[in-house]
Amino acid sequence: MSFLKDSSDFKWLTGEVKDRIIKWQFANGVKMTDTDRAFSDLCFYGEDILKSDIFALAFEQVHHNISTVGEHTLHVALKALDIAYDFQNKGISVNIESVVCAALCHDLGILGRHEKFKNNLVCCFLHPRHSADIARDSFPFVSYEAYKAIACHMFPATPIPPTTLTGLILIWADKSCSVNEVRGIIDSLDVVPA
Ligand SMILES: [Fe+2]
Ligand SMILES: [Fe+2]
Repeated sequence: MSFLKDSSDFKWLTGEVKDRIIKWQFANGVKMTDTDRAFSDLCFYGEDILKSDIFALAFEQVHHNISTVGEHTLHVALKALDIAYDFQNKGISVNIESVVCAALCHDLGILGRHEKFKNNLVCCFLHPRHSADIARDSFPFVSYEAYKAIACHMFPATPIPPTTLTGLILIWADKSCSVNEVRGIIDSLDVVPA
């Protein structure tokens, strides 16, 4: 499936979302062919998650003031696959299905954060466990490896470190995308460094 050319039956994949994701990938130096390869893996391993109502809901909640939880999730999933392919190219075995499921579900627990959590700090500590529980309850095919990776994805802010390569890849992708998303806000403010 071509991310650029083919339409899909995911209700959240509007023209605007597609354009922003393609722009994001180019800005981060990822070629369209690599985006297509990653999107194909997302569809193959994560179709039920991508088609779910809760995933569509993620495109309605703002995240990092510039994006939505849904778009941040796509950033993280595409980056996680980029890292996973790099490991594979070096001969290191990666469970792509777990990487996809972990990345797609890692922030579902953030949805409704203002109603669920007292403040941002509480959200920071508790949303990984909420996301892991949503993944386990809504998508029973999600592996235990992916479940654990989701539950630990805020390490080192939360004290339990990842114990699998999937967990490490998710943390790496999430931190990297969060930094780039926040950098986008700073750039848009036209701040001149002192
Ligand atoms: Fe998170
Ligand atoms: Fe995240």
